[in-house]
Amino acid sequence: MKTALTEMLGARYPVLNAPMTPQAGGALARAVAQSGAIGMLGFDESESAESLRNEIRLVREGGPPAIFGIGLVRWVIDARPELVELAFEARPALVSISFGDPEPFVAGFHAAGILVASQVQSKAWAEVALAAGVDILVAQGTEAGGHTGAVGTLPLLQIVLEIAGDTPVVAAGGIATGRGLAAVLAAGACGAWIGTPFLAASEARTNPAAQERLVSANETETILTNVFDRVQHKAWPAEFSGRALRNRFTDAWHDRVDEMTPDAEHQFGEARSNRDYSVAHLYAGQTVGLVREVTSAAQIVRSIVDEAETRLRSVASLVNTGE
Ligand SMILES: Cc1cc2nc3c(=O)[nH]c(=O)nc-3n(C[C@H](O)[C@H](O)[C@H](O)COP(=O)(O)O)c2cc1C
Repeated sequence: MKTALTEMLGARYPVLNAPMTPQAGGALARAVAQSGAIGMLGFDESESAESLRNEIRLVREGGPPAIFGIGLVRWVIDARPELVELAFEARPALVSISFGDPEPFVAGFHAAGILVASQVQSKAWAEVALAAGVDILVAQGTEAGGHTGAVGTLPLLQIVLEIAGDTPVVAAGGIATGRGLAAVLAAGACGAWIGTPFLAASEARTNPAAQERLVSANETETILTNVFDRVQHKAWPAEFSGRALRNRFTDAWHDRVDEMTPDAEHQFGEARSNRDYSVAHLYAGQTVGLVREVTSAAQIVRSIVDEAETRLRSVASLVNTGE
């Protein structure tokens, strides 16, 4: 498949795995890149530089060089500027700077020959990213797992495509199959940024208890909430909540987050240590209903791109050419 994204990055397929923290580490990025797509690893605010260096080593380990990117979050790099240095050191083909203005960092990455993408959740954020000079806009819809905005992928994609001009646009949120990839490519996106399905990749840093829960969840079980940020005292800007699986904790506190008690914090901490997802957080998007097994990243990429090719061929035949 050939799109602006595959051309810019020299990849075979217009698919990136989302830089999910901490699940998207070096092994996942490497496996995705080796399968012909673009691998991404996420830099988490609580992971040590030493551990992140280890993940970067995993991307580079053995075989031909992998095409990979690094995901950064704006408020996290404000708190830990050394993560930007670490991203330079890793020499990725791409970085993403999301959930805030990427402008202060764009020139530096460009000078190092690194492309810059930014996930945007509204027309206003798309304008900010365009003004910052990013190379790729990622229209991230509310269906997405993890932190996101309030607008659905399809309306947002159309809005962002209208103003993007020559800047390529990738779609994120709610894409898990070849049908989804074909749909966004047909709409004018140059690729898909896919998170939730890769949580169940065998190479992801998702623990087995979480993978078991993901495989059994359906598409009606997610909620966009800030309760997990509040209970963990994370500095996420208020406009970005996180899409997670609903559980006893969201049932109890989503509607009265300001009343959260120290006892609730304690229960959450215990559940987290015990990997008890009936209370602890498990970020996932609405495509969780399409995640049915733990399988290799290569298999996930293969099935998405094979089906997309078939769908795109059949869609072309819908147009009456007048012959
Ligand atoms: C568990 C999880 C963690 C995430 N962490 C990050 C992150 O650290 N940085 C980031 O830019 N996006 C993060 N995201 C959002 C993804 O980049 C992406 O927008 C989303 O997964 C796409 O939607 P989908 O899950 O429906 O495929 C995360 C998503 C999930 C599910």
